[in-house]
Amino acid sequence: MDGKRRRALLYFTLAFSLLAGWIMTACTAAAERDRAMVALAAEQPASAGDRIAPAPVTANRVAQAQKGDLYDFEPEPLTLADCARCHIRHFEQIRNEGGGHRIDCRQCHEVFHAYNPRRNNYDELMPRCTDCHGLPHGETQSACFDCHDQAHAPKKIPFSERLVSACADCHQSPASELKQYSSKHSGVGCQACHPQNHGRILSCLQCHGPHYDAQPLAECTQCHGAHKPLELDFPANATAKTCNDCHSQVVTLWTGTPSRHGEVSCAQCHARHLVVPSCTECHPQPHSEGMLAKFSGCLDCHIDVHDLPVR
Ligand code: HEC
Ligand code: HEC
Ligand code: HEC
Ligand code: HEC
Ligand code: HEC
Ligand code: HEC
Ligand code: HEC
Ligand code: HEC
Ligand code: HEC
Ligand code: HEC
Ligand code: HEC
Ligand code: HEC
Repeated sequence: MDGKRRRALLYFTLAFSLLAGWIMTACTAAAERDRAMVALAAEQPASAGDRIAPAPVTANRVAQAQKGDLYDFEPEPLTLADCARCHIRHFEQIRNEGGGHRIDCRQCHEVFHAYNPRRNNYDELMPRCTDCHGLPHGETQSACFDCHDQAHAPKKIPFSERLVSACADCHQSPASELKQYSSKHSGVGCQACHPQNHGRILSCLQCHGPHYDAQPLAECTQCHGAHKPLELDFPANATAKTCNDCHSQVVTLWTGTPSRHGEVSCAQCHARHLVVPSCTECHPQPHSEGMLAKFSGCLDCHIDVHDLPVR
């Protein structure tokens, strides 16, 4: 060993013993302080308002960690409210638009929080409609998401070519009525009157004016079937204001007539459009057979049914 190295070793030993000595003193002091605290705490029984002595740091943390009773319970399963707390958007959608799907998340999501991009298992994890519903629209409509694209709002079905192609599968009568009773509506596609979302119905007044000012929408379908608009059955309370749109001459005559036919409504005599009643439906035996035989019809003498001459 040369001089230089020996000197270095000497300094090192000196420094080490100094440091060790300091640490020993510090530890003894700390231990003494802890003992003093414990003694103090034992001496003074805690009473309300007393300041709790600061925990003896090191010793206490170990003691706590060793206790182990943190795990001494059975975890409660997550509740719907727990799911909602994190998945607020999903929760709100189901609450507002879920309809029959306002059931517990876990009735559908039996397995969740298991998605792993490496396993690419998303589809496998997601609930399958058919597990609960089978095939409600038959074999041809088996790709549920084609139409029900939002599982949490199952009745909110957006408009698509796919849906349009299937209208008549589920709704036979509108399609067949439009075909059987030919009108200009037969050339208007389903989606023109039922746009955007499945089940939406446009008002007639969106495309047509009324027959008179402020005619209520509810009246329209009392006469016109939407899918057979020219098959017109008149309800008994149909107002002459509608007829006036096209038959103002008749309406004017009828409104001003002194005869009792002015108290009979248009629809009582014309229960369907274009149908004219025979007088004997209401007046079975007005005159003798012999008298009537000489004339071609009642109006030979009574002239105008809408404005009978009266004495
Ligand atoms: C009627 C069954 C049903 C119920 C009830 C239901 N889900 Fe879903 N959920 C599904 C289906 C099906 C999918 C897959 C949708 C897809 O792939 O587009 C899904 C997808 C999800 C997804 C992943 C896709 C995304 O949109 O982020 C989350 C998250 C989710 N659901 C959360 C919830 C929560 C939270 C609840 C309860 C508040 C709930 N679900 C209730 C059927 C349901
Ligand atoms: C502490 C917050 C938290 C809670 C509570 C929670 N989730 Fe999630 N969940 C997440 C996060 C974060 C994701 C991943 C991101 C995403 O898809 O939104 C996720 C993803 C999902 C997914 C899609 C991916 C997968 O692996 O399944 C579903 C389904 C799901 N959660 C359902 C539920 C259900 C059901 C509950 C209640 C039983 C629930 N979550 C409770 C935070 C939470
Ligand atoms: C865990 C079982 C379950 C699963 C999975 C499920 N549903 Fe449902 N669904 C229900 C229940 C329960 C109802 C309410 C039944 C009722 O009203 O008769 C319902 C009702 C519906 C309704 C009618 C909604 C209403 O408000 O009247 C539609 C549409 C529907 N489900 C479509 C779907 C589609 C599409 C899927 C797949 C994305 C699906 N369901 C997955 C249980 C389920
Ligand atoms: C071509 C589009 C389309 C496809 C595909 C489709 N649905 Fe529907 N589904 C509808 C429409 C439209 C309704 C009527 C919604 C309403 O009542 O407003 C409906 C209604 C329902 C209802 C409510 C019960 C009823 O019959 O009134 C359930 C449940 C349902 N669908 C489940 C399914 C399931 C499960 C699948 C897949 C196997 C599926 N749907 C495939 C369009 C479709
Ligand atoms: C998979 C079957 C299915 C398909 C496809 C379908 N519908 Fe429906 N639709 C239904 C069911 C079920 C109802 C609910 C019937 C009820 O409430 O009586 C409904 C209701 C409606 C209603 C509302 C009736 C009302 O009184 O509010 C309209 C309008 C309608 N559908 C039009 C259409 C049109 C237009 C299409 C094509 C674009 C179509 N539907 C495709 C099954 C279907
Ligand atoms: C010119 C407009 C128009 C066209 C085209 C049309 N609809 Fe309608 N549809 C209506 C109106 C308006 C109603 C409401 C009738 C009512 O309130 O009495 C209706 C009602 C319905 C209803 C519910 C009541 C019912 O009769 O069952 C269904 C379903 C429906 N339409 C399906 C269809 C289908 C499918 C097509 C195509 C084949 C179609 N509609 C074409 C205007 C139209
Ligand atoms: C989306 C627009 C639209 C809606 C909604 C609509 N129609 Fe029409 N309607 C038409 C078109 C287009 C024609 C043909 C007009 C023409 O060529 O002059 C028509 C023609 C008619 C005709 C004459 C038919 C013929 O063959 O001469 C009647 C009657 C009629 N509509 C009644 C109604 C009634 C009643 C309603 C509501 C139940 C209604 N429409 C709803 C678009 C619509
Ligand atoms: C009291 C029965 C009745 C009521 C209510 C009624 N209509 Fe009419 N509408 C008719 C008759 C009758 C025709 C003539 C049909 C023909 O030309 O063969 C007609 C024709 C039409 C036409 C064909 C175009 C035209 O002016 O010649 C349209 C459009 C129409 N109505 C729309 C409506 C609308 C919209 C409503 C509701 C605001 C309505 N109708 C209410 C009886 C009625
Ligand atoms: C939108 C126009 C329109 C409305 C509204 C209307 N009609 Fe007509 N009506 C016609 C047309 C067009 C004819 C065809 C014969 C013609 O050119 O006079 C007709 C013919 C008739 C005929 C004649 C049949 C025949 O054999 O000569 C009667 C009856 C009739 N309408 C009754 C009514 C009654 C009742 C109302 C009201 C409830 C009414 N119409 C409303 C347009 C209309
Ligand atoms: C008491 C029964 C009766 C009442 C009420 C009645 N009609 Fe008539 N209407 C008839 C008969 C019968 C004919 C056939 C007359 C003929 O053969 O010349 C007719 C013919 C018509 C015609 C076709 C011939 C013409 O005169 O233009 C129209 C249009 C008509 N009615 C409209 C109306 C309207 C609109 C009302 C209500 C304001 C009305 N009718 C009330 C019985 C009635
Ligand atoms: C829908 C039924 C109905 C039809 C159809 C009908 N009437 Fe009348 N008519 C009446 C009623 C109601 C009275 C009022 C007196 C009564 O109660 O008998 C009346 C009264 C009369 C009167 C008496 C005049 C008056 O002012 O008191 C004559 C005349 C008459 N009708 C002729 C005819 C002729 C002609 C026809 C055919 C062109 C005809 N009626 C068709 C219901 C009808
Ligand atoms: C030759 C002409 C003539 C013919 C044809 C005729 N009537 Fe008359 N009718 C009269 C006269 C005139 C009166 C008035 C009698 C009176 O006021 O006592 C009358 C009265 C009536 C009355 C009213 C009776 C009352 O008690 O107030 C009715 C209803 C009537 N006719 C219906 C008819 C019917 C229906 C026909 C066809 C089947 C017809 N008439 C054919 C001439 C005729």
